[in-house]
Amino acid sequence: MKNLQFESPSLKGEINVPGDKSISHRSIMFGAISHGETRVTGFLKGDDCLSTIDCFRKMGVQIIEKEDEILIEGKGFEGLQEPSEVLYTGNSGTTTRLLLGILAGQPFHSVITGDESIAKRPMNRVTAPLKQMGAVIDGREDGNLTPISIRGGKLKSFHYKLPVASAQLKSALILAGLQSDEETVIVEPEKTRDHTEKMIRHFGGSIQRDGQKIIVNGNQPFTAKDVHVPGDISSAAFFLTAAAITKNSSLLLKGVGLNETRTGILDVLKKMEADFEVTQTNADEEPEGQIKINSSILKSCEIGGELIPRLIDEIPIIALLATQANGQTVIKDAEELKVKETNRIDAVVEELKKFGADIHATEDGMIINGPTLLHGAEADSRGDHRIGMMLAVAALISKGQVKINNPECISVSYPSFFNDLDAVIHQNNV
Ligand code: S3P
Repeated sequence: MKNLQFESPSLKGEINVPGDKSISHRSIMFGAISHGETRVTGFLKGDDCLSTIDCFRKMGVQIIEKEDEILIEGKGFEGLQEPSEVLYTGNSGTTTRLLLGILAGQPFHSVITGDESIAKRPMNRVTAPLKQMGAVIDGREDGNLTPISIRGGKLKSFHYKLPVASAQLKSALILAGLQSDEETVIVEPEKTRDHTEKMIRHFGGSIQRDGQKIIVNGNQPFTAKDVHVPGDISSAAFFLTAAAITKNSSLLLKGVGLNETRTGILDVLKKMEADFEVTQTNADEEPEGQIKINSSILKSCEIGGELIPRLIDEIPIIALLATQANGQTVIKDAEELKVKETNRIDAVVEELKKFGADIHATEDGMIINGPTLLHGAEADSRGDHRIGMMLAVAALISKGQVKINNPECISVSYPSFFNDLDAVIHQNNV
């Protein structure tokens, strides 16, 4: 339980945003399936990414964790070994789904399982197409729910239209396709984060994109190459919101990843007329920059369509932002929120109602009327890191005490969240 109470706080100073979770996972995976030593800097040592390291170690990959770098001794796809233990993916959907794609091409048996949240998340979106490619997969509900066992091997050529816009699903099929002798073609309904495609090119491979179509060939040799992980814009989103909704605030967020498939939150801040400025500091394949943001007078807006995959993880904090915007904010086309670490439509609406927010759930999102004065509440992260951080930011603008049950889950993506928050708050913390 975390007790928070603030007196007119303002946020001032700088934050070095911790490493991007999606890119950190992929740096370990591509380091492992390439040949030679890969050095990763900026890696996020959050619980989810540590689960990925643990799974690859169980498949015989040597990974050394140093203070500020990770060293991976890559042996190629063919160097992965049959694990003698269950691969435990903790709370991480990305580890679970991408690993299934890798294991689909591996001629050995393995079992994947995770925590109680993973046990409820649908895996058939990944396991059904992987079975069609030739992998032998079983699990609860015919391979939909963990624990899942998989025996991979030779994979067939595959053309597949994704039923949902999901980068985890797309990436799992790409990773399987990389182990097939033939061509794999994947069509996505909306463009989703493209870190996997960028990693392929970074490690010397090739992958083509033609509109919504992705084409990848198997048997590509990957060569180890150092990876620099930029800061996670999904983590920065909590501080962008915190600064915008508190009075007399001015924050500088440094080292933020600016991949355009991830910057939907910046589009929303613009639509809401927030006072912020983005300066790009490097134009690598994964661009990076800094964002200066000040207290803002916000306007409501509509969020849906192709914007949704570009901000899917930011919707809990955007909902809080909308409680402080003038007018009605509508978030739609976001049914995927129901199958995240928690059902995030229910979690956001029910938890923010406890603070007095004017918010309603819809079939595919939520409607928020603002601005509202929030009051203290006893809230619950429900074991979901992004709900936990959203509640902590809500505490900044709530009159009275806020209790957050189960705040520990925040370490999944942002272990230093409360330290960073303490460092930029200027107020009488009572
Ligand atoms: C991720 C993709 C998204 C996102 C998740 C990370 C990834 O999930 O919500 O936090 O790293 O590929 P979906 O692909 O299921 O939408």
